[in-house]
Amino acid sequence: MDLENAIKKYKAYFTDKIETYGAVPKGADYNGYGAQEVRFEQLIKVIDSSTAFSVIDYGCGYGAMFDFLQRQNWKFEYYGFDMLEKMVIAGQAAHKEFSNAQFTHNENTLSVVDYLLAGSIFNNKFDADQSEWQDMVIETLNRLNALCNKGFAFNMLTSYSDADRMALRPDLYFADPLLMFDFCKRNFSRNVALLHDYNLYDFTILVRKDAK
Ligand SMILES: C[S@@+](CC[C@H](N)C(=O)[O-])C[C@H]1O[C@@H](n2cnc3c(N)ncnc32)[C@H](O)[C@@H]1O
Repeated sequence: MDLENAIKKYKAYFTDKIETYGAVPKGADYNGYGAQEVRFEQLIKVIDSSTAFSVIDYGCGYGAMFDFLQRQNWKFEYYGFDMLEKMVIAGQAAHKEFSNAQFTHNENTLSVVDYLLAGSIFNNKFDADQSEWQDMVIETLNRLNALCNKGFAFNMLTSYSDADRMALRPDLYFADPLLMFDFCKRNFSRNVALLHDYNLYDFTILVRKDAK
């Protein structure tokens, strides 16, 4: 199966989720608020909130990360980007009253910001080959890196999951955390953290570009 078809399936799958459930965790294919927030907690560790900052939420869905950041009482400008127009429309509708929240589905309109967060955007590969999906992931990581000055964070399902569970889900992409760590360390920054200690079948990578 070629990548283009897998991406078509991906888009149809998530469009269906947001249309069916709306701006709640199931609309972004999470089981619930807990599952979403435990991942957000890891991703935001890349941010130094002692001064105001700008952040791109890459693959923002309906913008749940905005609400999570807002609850920290931090000062920030949020730019939600999602390739799906339906997600962006849901995000805009849910955050109309916030002057520090903007959404777009056009990647070309994004400017470079302080931080970039990418939550659960690589998990569903459908019937793409492992290697072609991995190539797409690497290409995307290069773009994420180019869009921020201070650092970025992303999460992925882990290849350290139970073999029998992974065998049942060939539609999911279980990435090798060591390979991703190595790629980020060699290409993006000397300061990279691999977080794989939060009791889920996934891991988070923090790339800090401004560490002293
Ligand atoms: C599982 S949802 C997660 C949404 C949000 N990050 C969250 O954690 O609530 C994945 C989202 O990422 C978006 N996405 C995946 N790859 C993308 C890409 N390369 N560019 C833009 N959006 C992408 C999808 O359209 C989908 O809305």
